[in-house]
Amino acid sequence: MPTALIVGASRGIGLEFVRQYLEAGWNVFGTHRGEDDRIRLRDLGAHTLRLDVLEPNDVAGIAWQLDGERIDVAVVNAGVYGPRTSHIAQPPTDEEFDLVMRTNVLASMRLIPVLAPLLVPARGTLGFVSSRMGSIAEAGAAYGMLYRVSKAAVNMTARLAHAEYGGQGLRVLSLHPGWVRTDMGGPNADVEVDASVAGLRRVIADPIAWPGGSFFDYRGQSLAW
Ligand SMILES: NC(=O)c1ccc[n+]([C@@H]2O[C@H](COP(=O)([O-])OP(=O)(O)OC[C@H]3O[C@@H](n4cnc5c(N)ncnc54)[C@H](OP(=O)(O)O)[C@@H]3O)[C@@H](O)[C@H]2O)c1
Repeated sequence: MPTALIVGASRGIGLEFVRQYLEAGWNVFGTHRGEDDRIRLRDLGAHTLRLDVLEPNDVAGIAWQLDGERIDVAVVNAGVYGPRTSHIAQPPTDEEFDLVMRTNVLASMRLIPVLAPLLVPARGTLGFVSSRMGSIAEAGAAYGMLYRVSKAAVNMTARLAHAEYGGQGLRVLSLHPGWVRTDMGGPNADVEVDASVAGLRRVIADPIAWPGGSFFDYRGQSLAW
């Protein structure tokens, strides 16, 4: 039975990854912060791990809690958007910058050396849930500046992980889930969470069609960095 680890599994896209991998018969680890979320994940049939990605001790704790596990797919999904007002004309405060960059970028950097040794033996896949808003090539509007900058940095982090571990058989992907109806995406988003995750799982499942070191959306389209 293959094993998946979903980082940030309490709701939205992460929770749907847990649901779909469980439904497909996988062994699933899901991380959470809240106790209610732990119970929901447990009741679904997932193994639960407490992880606040802002806490270095929690990240280190994942390493020993998963010691000896062989992970086929790890999805780094935890993320925050930050201030909706962030714009080139309205830069973030220190606090806003710290929260978004530490959650989206620093945590991704810290998780790579913890997750890679668990994934390499399985020649597994490490997927970062990034965003098309992080594409520098496509940048055409200044709204969501802080989030965009953070996801551009996530993309670079993913590419560097691929450069470092690709030779050992680890496949690293940057993934765009679409504009998805979740707490973050809001009610006007145009993609249902189940369709987004089904599409991302299809991309993750096929290393020939969707090779590592690349940036793909949930429909399997290649995106420009
Ligand atoms: N929705 C979209 O349209 C869209 C589009 C492009 C990319 N994305 C990306 O997709 C990912 C998931 O988004 P979503 O729409 O599902 O968002 P969401 O509903 O707001 O869920 C965010 C998830 O991140 C977790 N998280 C946030 N800060 C954390 C921390 N410090 N430690 C651990 N977990 C933390 C949350 O856990 P708690 O419940 O504990 O807060 C929750 O599980 C994000 O990386 C987002 O940037 C979303």
